[in-house]
Amino acid sequence: MALPRGVRERVAAVHGGATLPERLRLYDGWAAGYEQDVAALEYRAPHLAAASLAFAFPAPPAEARLLDVACGTGLVARELHRRGFRCLHGVDGSAGMLERARSTGLYRQLRRCVLGQEPLPAPAGGFLCLTTRSNPSNLRYKAELEAALERLEGQGAWRKVLAQEVERWERATSEEESTQGTGYISGVVYVYQKCPVPPVKEG
Ligand SMILES: C[S@@+](CC[C@H](N)C(=O)[O-])C[C@H]1O[C@@H](n2cnc3c(N)ncnc32)[C@H](O)[C@@H]1O
Repeated sequence: MALPRGVRERVAAVHGGATLPERLRLYDGWAAGYEQDVAALEYRAPHLAAASLAFAFPAPPAEARLLDVACGTGLVARELHRRGFRCLHGVDGSAGMLERARSTGLYRQLRRCVLGQEPLPAPAGGFLCLTTRSNPSNLRYKAELEAALERLEGQGAWRKVLAQEVERWERATSEEESTQGTGYISGVVYVYQKCPVPPVKEG
């Protein structure tokens, strides 16, 4: 089925942002129409991220502290809320996206934070989740993201729980982006756990 008019162009524009500030500005502009466009793309990342977190947290989830990194308009929080998670924090680099996330009323705290440039707020004992696409035009961004996550791990702040490649993440916007002619692209869900702060040695 053909994509609704303009979806392909808007996705291409955001992914085509040459620099990070430019990409974040493009996300600001996309915030209002984002959810409608990703629905047309059959975007499954929020559902998949919530399923991974529910797997990492078999215990009652209400008090589990979760940081939704690059939270966008809050789609992951909606899925998590349905599964009983209540202690949600979010960060995103786009003020426009954060404004939408705030309007959901589902986050205890939301902050602007540019991953790769600023430290992540770290709820003690918490988990973070993050997703990204694995299609050819996103591979450079994906590599930057993974380098930033590796740095966090190297600093001893966070421990990787899972990095799960998922097929049929969303519909491809072109034949070149599609995985082996399926018409879909793949993506990855990352879940990290905050490392406990070691006790200060006295004496
Ligand atoms: C494709 S959206 C995903 C949003 C949400 N997680 C979802 O599944 O709907 C990507 C989000 O990442 C944010 N983003 C991209 N690069 C970022 C960076 N370096 N630091 C913080 N946020 C970033 C964008 O502003 C955007 O909201």
